[in-house]
Amino acid sequence: KTVAIIGCPFSGGQSKAGVDHGPIHLVNAGLAQQLSGLGWNVKFEGHHAFEDITTQSDPPIGKMKNPRLVSRVTEAVAKVVGDHASQGRLPLTLGGDHSLAMGTIAGTLSKHPDACVIWVDAHADLNTPETTDSGNIHGMPLSFLMSLASSQSLNYKSESEPTPFAWLDNVHLPPSRLAYIGLRDVDAGEKALLREHDIAAFSMHEVDRYGIGQVVEMALDRVNPGRERPIHLSFDVDALDPTVAPSTGTPVRGGLTFREGHYICERLWETGLLAAVDLMEVNPSLADEQSVEQTVAVGCSLVRAALDAPDDHLSSAQCLEP
Ligand code: ARG
Ligand code: MN
Ligand code: MN
Ligand code: MN
Repeated sequence: KTVAIIGCPFSGGQSKAGVDHGPIHLVNAGLAQQLSGLGWNVKFEGHHAFEDITTQSDPPIGKMKNPRLVSRVTEAVAKVVGDHASQGRLPLTLGGDHSLAMGTIAGTLSKHPDACVIWVDAHADLNTPETTDSGNIHGMPLSFLMSLASSQSLNYKSESEPTPFAWLDNVHLPPSRLAYIGLRDVDAGEKALLREHDIAAFSMHEVDRYGIGQVVEMALDRVNPGRERPIHLSFDVDALDPTVAPSTGTPVRGGLTFREGHYICERLWETGLLAAVDLMEVNPSLADEQSVEQTVAVGCSLVRAALDAPDDHLSSAQCLEP
């Protein structure tokens, strides 16, 4: 088994500096060696370079900020993820901000059109260019992936460049194949879309009510009832409580515990269906040095939980053996 680490030092989907350093810190903390230690072949050939993609001028389109840059970067990421997947490698994308998931999920769908997505986040990241308040594209990836927004809806025409996100217009993740876990800060426009499209959304309220074990099964029952679809896990580190993962751009109190976050990763690995993993929004410029170290360590730990040793899982009974 080979895992391909795709480091994406990118911050253009939001406005706080530093999230582009997330992947660098995760790799410097020894993530590649940790995964080799679990028995994986690790393919990592340096972080993705986006310098060649920087645009001269990228004024907002409507409220959307950095649309050309985010479109080009995520298109490139889609290609890299899709290529690794077709070579039989498990793509592990390290962000960077969550707009990158436009690329990672499009890449997964190019190889596995029937894949489902488990999106672990405090936020729904479902805004459209019309419903967004912030204009930050990291709050919008799912609306484009599910064709609730499209390049046509931008009402933008240019002679000299393709319309941003036109490349996503033929990517269609059905809303029935998305399940959220950990939500607690959802905008009014996003709530309307969740309802309208009957999207499976397990907020912290459901985690409290049913417990995380039950919630993960309910999420899988909604998007993967036969347990046969490949699973793309997109994990925003801000799903965790800020006491667990403080170094992130949009922390929201009342989040997942350390164990709840790990349980999700462990259980999805255990299905044998995990096809791709994203770990997003680690921002080493936010909070003090010790909090940064803690957040990076938790990030590595979540990835290890999602990519458990290929063959040597202890059964629960073995774990209880004295
Ligand atoms: N809903 C807010 C927005 O659209 C916050 C999004 C936060 N997203 C994230 N990937 N951290 O701006
Ligand atoms: Mn740094
Ligand atoms: Mn978030
Ligand atoms: Mn997010």
